[in-house]
Amino acid sequence: MATTVQTPDTTHTPVVQSATAAQRSARTIKVEIKRQATPDAAARTEKFEIPYRPNMNITSLLGEIACDPVTSSGQATTPIAYDANCLEEICGSCAMLINGRARMACSALVDKLTGPKGEGTITLAPLSKFPVVRDLAVDRSVLFENLKAVKAWVPIDGTYDLGGGPRQFPQLQETLYPLSNCISCTICMEVCPQFNDSTNFVGAATIAQVKLFNNHPTGAVLKEERLRALAGDGGVQECGFAQNCVEACPKQLPLTEAISDVSRDVIVQQVKDFFTR
Ligand code: SF4
Ligand code: FES
Repeated sequence: MATTVQTPDTTHTPVVQSATAAQRSARTIKVEIKRQATPDAAARTEKFEIPYRPNMNITSLLGEIACDPVTSSGQATTPIAYDANCLEEICGSCAMLINGRARMACSALVDKLTGPKGEGTITLAPLSKFPVVRDLAVDRSVLFENLKAVKAWVPIDGTYDLGGGPRQFPQLQETLYPLSNCISCTICMEVCPQFNDSTNFVGAATIAQVKLFNNHPTGAVLKEERLRALAGDGGVQECGFAQNCVEACPKQLPLTEAISDVSRDVIVQQVKDFFTR
């Protein structure tokens, strides 16, 4: 698995205003966070109690800790490192395990993670299938390497005016649009039993992007290369159809449908190659 360290500027140390004394209530939110200072350091858990404010999400909770990084036993510590950018479930960078479930920190509301009176403890941990960079920040470059391997782009050159581009039927646009909503969060890979240290399975997101670009009038010029890239080791045939991906995807991509369609296209391409090579 790739271990390229993410650039420091993607690791977000938020600056948020600490709640004033008047805003602080007696109610607190208990959080347990799995921490790791460096990729090779041993993991440890730190506990925090954060003053409750209505409508907090996990990102703002981490911001509160950054403003006053003291554990629940009064020990001074460092702010939690994690990735975030858009804060509105678009950039895909803040995926982590929240109460054991892979999801986006910016759309996980604290009020829905605790009981009606704030009881219970929220647990935060980094995604388990990607190398830890620090604390909750992981290196997800394997997805981007997979997207490069299947040429997940429309090949156009130049900065000159290319005109309006080829026309698409609205029906095709409607079919493809959901696939363009992928935010590269890697949650579909985290929850997939076939994505693990002993396989090279590319995962659902990459396969879905192959369907998207193969059905684009200009992108289709690389269709055969994409299908051949998915025919070998780590290719689409390694999907076990557990369907965890489609359940967990925060953007509701039709992943199982894409995997079925691309599987069929890969087989057709293999038959064509058998008779023409
Ligand atoms: S397919 Fe869904 S779960 Fe997978 S990376 Fe894209 S948005 Fe995330
Ligand atoms: S911060 Fe961008 S998706 Fe959460």
